[in-house]
Amino acid sequence: MSDTSSLAAPRARLLVVDDDADMLRLLAMRLGSAGYQVTSVGSAEAALGQLDIERPQLVLSDVRLPGKDGLALFDEIRKRHPSLPVILLTAHGTIPDAVEATARGVFTYLTKPYDAKELLEKIAQALALGAPASDSTRVDEVWRNEIVSRSNRMADLLAEARMVAQSDASVLLRGDSGTGKEMLARAIHRASPRASRPFIAVNCGAIPEALLESELFGHMKGAFTDAVANHKGLFQAADGGTLLLDEIGDMPPALQVKLLRVLQERAVRPLGSSQSLPVDVRIISATHRNLEEAMATTQFREDLYYRLNVVTLTLPTLAERREDIPLLANHFLAKLAAKYGKRSSGFAPEALKALTMSAWPGNVRQLYNVVEQVCALSTTPLVSLALVQRALRTPSVEVLSFADAKQRFEREYLVGLLKMTDGNVADAARLAQRNRTEFYRLLQKHALTPGLFKSDSPPGSSGIPGDAVADE
Ligand SMILES: Nc1ncnc2c1ncn2[C@@H]1O[C@H](COP(=O)(O)OP(=O)(O)OP(=O)(O)O)[C@@H](O)[C@H]1O
Ligand SMILES: [Mg+2]
Repeated sequence: MSDTSSLAAPRARLLVVDDDADMLRLLAMRLGSAGYQVTSVGSAEAALGQLDIERPQLVLSDVRLPGKDGLALFDEIRKRHPSLPVILLTAHGTIPDAVEATARGVFTYLTKPYDAKELLEKIAQALALGAPASDSTRVDEVWRNEIVSRSNRMADLLAEARMVAQSDASVLLRGDSGTGKEMLARAIHRASPRASRPFIAVNCGAIPEALLESELFGHMKGAFTDAVANHKGLFQAADGGTLLLDEIGDMPPALQVKLLRVLQERAVRPLGSSQSLPVDVRIISATHRNLEEAMATTQFREDLYYRLNVVTLTLPTLAERREDIPLLANHFLAKLAAKYGKRSSGFAPEALKALTMSAWPGNVRQLYNVVEQVCALSTTPLVSLALVQRALRTPSVEVLSFADAKQRFEREYLVGLLKMTDGNVADAARLAQRNRTEFYRLLQKHALTPGLFKSDSPPGSSGIPGDAVADE
C-alpha cells in the first residue's frame, strides 16, 4: 500500500521527568525536534499520575528529584509496567548508583551534562527493544489482533507477552476462568520464532490419566490392548512449535513426574517403546488454580512448578479492566450478528452501561455468552437495556446448537461409563443398554479408546514420593 511507506514509525511518546524547569524545557525541545511526542512532568509523583492517564513508550527521568527520587520512581514503574524502559539521567553519576540501577533493570544510565547524540541513540535502542506502541487501537499487530483490549493492564501484559515470546522460556499463564489464557497462549506462539510451526493445546484436566499419557507422549502398537497402531504423541506433533498444557493444575501426580522428565531430557519415550525421541517444544502452561496451595498439599510437584514457571503472566479479571467491556461487547456483537445473519446497529447506550457495570465472575467468556444470548433473542437492530438485563439475570449458559450439545453430551456420557467400568466395553455397553457393536460404533465416533480407561496405568509410575493416593 502506498500510504504505509509515507507513514514512518509512529511517533513514540516519551515521558520526561525533571524538577529543573529549564532542563525540562530543553529536553522537550531536543526530543520534540527529533520527532518524539514529549510529556514533561516535574516530579516522580506527577510521573506516576501521568502513567495512569497515558502510556508512554519510554520514561526519561532525572535521579535527584524532590520527594521520591528517580530510583524509587523506577522501582514503582517496574512493579506497575514491567516492560516500560526507563533511562535515568543524573548530575551525580556515582558508580555504585549506576551499578545498582543497572542491576535492578533500568535500561540505561546517563550522566549530566549528557551528550545529546548519545541520549538519542540510547532512546532509539530502548524503544527498539521495548514495548510495542501502546496506542494499540491503531497499531494492528497480527500476533495479537484477536485480542480486543484498550486497557493499560492488558497493554502491559501484551507488551510483556511479546517480549517473552522471543525467548524459549516456559511461560505459566494464570488467571480466572474465561480471562483469555488460551487466547494469550496462541498470541505468544504467533509472536514467537516458532510461529510457522504447530501450536497444540491439550486440556490436562479433561482427559483420564492413562489416556493423557498416551496423548502427550504417544504409544507403540501393542503397548496396551487397544493400541492397534503406533500413535504419535502431542509432544512430537508440536515439534518445533508450542505446546499449551491447559489446566496444568489438574494433571495427575504420576504424570507430573513423567512430564518433568520429558522437560529435563528434552526427549519423549512413547508408551511401549524402549527408545527416546528428541523433541523441541516450547511449553506454555495455564491454570486457574492456585499452584502454591496445590504444592503445599503435595498435589503439585515443586520441581515441575519451577520448570514450568520461568515467566508468569497473569490475566486480569474483566472487572479489573472495565474499559474493555464496551469494546469487547461491540466486537462480539458484530461477530455474532454476522454468524446469526442479523442486522445489528449495536447496543442502546443504557444497555452498554449495564454491561459495563455488571460483575462478570465468568469474565470474557461470560460476556461472550451474554452477548450471544441477546443477539440470538434480539428482534430489533438496536439491543435494548431490557434484553441485556434479562440476559444478565439468567445464569449465563453457552448457547450450543442442538447437534453440538448432543455431541458433547454423548462424549461425556461415554467417558463416564468407561471410567466407571475401567474401560470394560461389555460392561459399559450393558449399562448403556446397547449391544456391543453399536457401542463400539459410538466409541469410534468419539475416538475413544477403552483400554486407556483402565485404572492401573502402565508400569513406571510407582514408587514416587508424594504420589497421590488412589481414589478408591
Ligand atoms: N481480549 C479478548 N478479546 C477477544 N476475545 C477474548 C478476549 N479474551 C477472551 N476472549 C474470548 O473469551 C473466551 C474465553 O477465553 P479463553 O478460552 O482464552 O479463556 P481461559 O482463560 O482459557 O478460560 P478457562 O480458564 O475457562 O479455560 C474465548 O472465546 C476467547 O476467544
Ligand atoms: Mg482455557
